[in-house]
Amino acid sequence: MRLTTLVILIGTLVASAAAFAHSGVANPAVLQRMEAMKQIGDQMKVLGSMAKGQVAFDAGAAQAAVDAIAAQAAQVPDLFREPVTDPKSEALPSIWESYGDFTLKAEALQVAANAQISAERDLAPTVAALGAACKACHSHYKD
Ligand code: HEC
Repeated sequence: MRLTTLVILIGTLVASAAAFAHSGVANPAVLQRMEAMKQIGDQMKVLGSMAKGQVAFDAGAAQAAVDAIAAQAAQVPDLFREPVTDPKSEALPSIWESYGDFTLKAEALQVAANAQISAERDLAPTVAALGAACKACHSHYKD
């Protein structure tokens, strides 16, 4: 994947985090899963800003970001288990119609985040793999 494509992909993935307000979401399960996704988005921003060269490469910070995504991804099946929603939620009902497939997509994210970033050249392929995993789930299960 070319870097420009990658940068655009990251932009579309994390854009909703800034634009989307969580205030007024009454159901705690909905709020919790939205917060978890927002945190995943924030980690992706850390990696994206390094991939774009806006921030200097820092192996420790990049590794911490992928580790945090791996940990969050492991929680995703539990966070989305309850078929609950809210007017502000972007979760599609198809999650609970195809919950098995949804959990496979969460596992795929965890696998992509199970990466070692020791040099700058490790960054782009990892970010590309993560981005593909986000998109694979969002395209089916997120509005
Ligand atoms: C297994 C499916 C799945 C994967 C994988 C996934 N997401 Fe999500 N994501 C969702 C769903 C579903 C929502 C909508 C949740 C809601 O609004 O209730 C969401 C919402 C979001 C939001 C909006 C959060 C908010 O503020 O409400 C962001 C940002 C986000 N995801 C980023 C990412 C990024 C970045 C990745 C990859 C590193 C990723 N997601 C991977 C399913 C997934």
